[in-house]
Amino acid sequence: MADQPLLKDLPCEKNYPVAHLLRVSNFELKKTKKGDDYLLFKVSDATKSLTCKRWNSTATDLDRYKDCKALFITGKVDPYNSEVSIVADSIAEPEEEAAEKFLEGHPEPTKTAPTTPIAMVSVSEKQCALRDYKGKDTPVSGLFRIFGAELKIGKKSPFLVFKLGDKSGELGGKRWESTQEDLDKLKDVRTAFIIGKIDDYGNTNSVIATTIEPRNISDDEFSQLFVSTKYSINFLKKEIWGYIQRIQNKYIRILAENILKDPLIKERFSTSVAAVSLHHNYRGGLCTHVFRNMKVGEALVDGFNNNMYPDGKYKINKDIVIFLALCHDIFKTYEYNPDGTYSQYGGLVPHLPKGAIFAERKMDAIPNFPEELRTQLSHGLLSHHGEEKFGSPVTPKTVEAVLFHYIDYMCSKIDPMLENLDRLSEGVLWTDPIKALAFGDNGRANPAYMGGMLLSEIGSLGDTGNAK
Ligand SMILES: [Fe+2]
Ligand SMILES: [Fe+2]
Repeated sequence: MADQPLLKDLPCEKNYPVAHLLRVSNFELKKTKKGDDYLLFKVSDATKSLTCKRWNSTATDLDRYKDCKALFITGKVDPYNSEVSIVADSIAEPEEEAAEKFLEGHPEPTKTAPTTPIAMVSVSEKQCALRDYKGKDTPVSGLFRIFGAELKIGKKSPFLVFKLGDKSGELGGKRWESTQEDLDKLKDVRTAFIIGKIDDYGNTNSVIATTIEPRNISDDEFSQLFVSTKYSINFLKKEIWGYIQRIQNKYIRILAENILKDPLIKERFSTSVAAVSLHHNYRGGLCTHVFRNMKVGEALVDGFNNNMYPDGKYKINKDIVIFLALCHDIFKTYEYNPDGTYSQYGGLVPHLPKGAIFAERKMDAIPNFPEELRTQLSHGLLSHHGEEKFGSPVTPKTVEAVLFHYIDYMCSKIDPMLENLDRLSEGVLWTDPIKALAFGDNGRANPAYMGGMLLSEIGSLGDTGNAK
């Protein structure tokens, strides 16, 4: 038996013949979907453990083999999720001496040995969008962005947790029985070919990977693995520039132009995300967030000034609100990495103080920039998160700052809801959990319900003028 091939060298090729003396354990009698009994057990040599099945078995077979330590297995390879497994045609008990010799030379392989290699390769394959994988145990295979990998301690052995993403979305992933070495191999990896299956534990889809093969791809290909804004970037840039050009106050207009033209901002503004997961967390998300804040800001200022308080002495300054929409999150361009993860820098200097300091420097460069205006703009930038616990060193104290805080807050909730509801299939009433819908202190993401849309036919007037 010394010459038999090692299990680690067994090719993952359907029907490849197997005739091996192997260590055996964990015998169970299982039932197929049709109700037939089969034996499921573990086989191993010193290099690898595999699962093995034998169809058409009985409880007597289980009793016969369950205490055996080594058996001679004849059968063939049956790949499952690109993993080698064996289907046994026959099982024979070896001579006692041969069994003892084999067991001595083949101790159990270590449990943490990776079941599949992690190796550098570079291939690109067509694949199904991540969002379209539905249902427990649906096989997954494709090229994905991989990020946030960590090694966790499990009940039986350490396992990898990570995130994977493509242009349709992101999911959490796990790979059981992993090692520190596996984690180290993923350290600087941004894309990998992943094979596995869907798990729907807790009604949330995730991927249980059996294979993670790091891949090298071009920056261009990499940028295709992100969810993108539904607008064209050129449209957003044009619209935002249009709002800036309509700013009446020349100091605010020049300041806004200078900030947007600064090479530091210009380089990343159009592609940056607005958040890691809460809202507008896609390529072009920051631009989209700015554009929508400007649009909502304009409508609300006009609504308050012209419709609700047409005779009021105080007129809300639209220029300040538009400026805050443009600049409040401008340093998210550096708070987040281009791949949408938190940057090391952002954890040290958040976008609120950094944005305010940057804006003040730009004000310094504009001759005679009014001090009062400087104070109000900086106050709006620093207070836009509303409360100290959310990162604002000061709470909003001007009408413009309070109004903008609520515009920003509202858009960060309503936009993700509308974006998720838009994606629902016909007849589905609930979205997946949305992080932006975590209210209060428990931080639990909640799904959104297809609310008012369901009522569109109820109570509307028909041809007769009577309510339907
Ligand atoms: Fe912010
Ligand atoms: Fe914001």
